[in-house]
Amino acid sequence: MKEINLLPDKLLTTPSVQIPDVLLSFLCRFVDALVTIRNRHNDVVPTMAQGIIEYKEVFPQDPVTNQNIQYFLDRFYMSRISIRMLINQHTLIFDGATNPVHPNTIGSIDPQCQVTEVVQDAFHSAKMLCDQYYLSSPDVILQEMNSNKKSQPISIVYVPSHLYHMLFELFKNAMRATIECHENSNNLPPIQVMVSLGGEDMSIKVSDKGGGVPFRRIENLFSYMYSTAPAPQIGDHTRTPLAGFGYGLPISRLYAKYFQGDLQLYSMEGYGTDAVIYLKALSTDSIERLPVYNKTALKNYKMSQEADDWCVPSKEPLDLANFKMGK
Ligand SMILES: Nc1ncnc2c1ncn2[C@@H]1O[C@H](COP(=O)(O)OP(=O)(O)OP(=O)(O)O)[C@@H](O)[C@H]1O
Ligand SMILES: [Mg+2]
Repeated sequence: MKEINLLPDKLLTTPSVQIPDVLLSFLCRFVDALVTIRNRHNDVVPTMAQGIIEYKEVFPQDPVTNQNIQYFLDRFYMSRISIRMLINQHTLIFDGATNPVHPNTIGSIDPQCQVTEVVQDAFHSAKMLCDQYYLSSPDVILQEMNSNKKSQPISIVYVPSHLYHMLFELFKNAMRATIECHENSNNLPPIQVMVSLGGEDMSIKVSDKGGGVPFRRIENLFSYMYSTAPAPQIGDHTRTPLAGFGYGLPISRLYAKYFQGDLQLYSMEGYGTDAVIYLKALSTDSIERLPVYNKTALKNYKMSQEADDWCVPSKEPLDLANFKMGK
């Protein structure tokens, strides 16, 4: 449709090709409709989170339901990321204006996304939030290793807002852990960030000395049903919580997976945590990853709890009926 405008004017004014006006007004209405849809769905994540909280208050938790909710939400939010990406792409491109700060961006995609710039942006936002809550915040030590072009800053083809989202979440978590672990000390150990570009992967490691998490709990941290922070009040837009619904990690992992990457946590309880974002270095590898609804998906919902095939249950050995979140 954008290309129709590029046809020679004389052709566009012939009686048979007099569609552009109609088309243009249709396009405007379409863009408006997309913007309305996007705005209407802004609060889907906190609203769903609130639903889960309400559910948890009333019903006892069972592992099958937990698993189904996790499976559903991972796929639901992945679709949402993709739909919003498409809407943004369309509205930005048909808006016509180029971004003055980043003139090379194509919609929301930056063909030369400067990774350390995004790291610094995300760090500073998290730091401001952290200062507001705790009146202090750890510093950052940032290093990068570009194995392809030594001495050049690392850049990849990526959606900067997605990268920012992941880093912001990791920094908030790292800061909270650092501060809560060093409550009684005057100097906070800095958060270390390593950005590395190889032939296949672009990886970012965020390391904190915030005391770590027991290994048994790592997978839990990616659960939509888990957070150690007190639940925020829904509708309270006055303060952005530093930690809240427990969605930071699972949603960030979805962003990473969306373009075939991943996000993993390596923790040493008693010391600290490394969170690593793996992204594809090559744009040809960064293809969209989407759920499909088919018989396999259906089967996944129907899976029931079967007896463990190890004599000592390998996971969550606690009495599940009394299993309390955060314990
Ligand atoms: N770097 C870390 N060190 C120690 N614990 C961590 C770290 N990162 C995450 N956690 C633990 O994992 C839990 C889940 O983290 P997640 O970011 O998903 O949610 P949250 O921080 O509780 O809330 P929010 O949705 O606001 O991010 C945290 O509540 C915290 O207990
Ligand atoms: Mg968090």
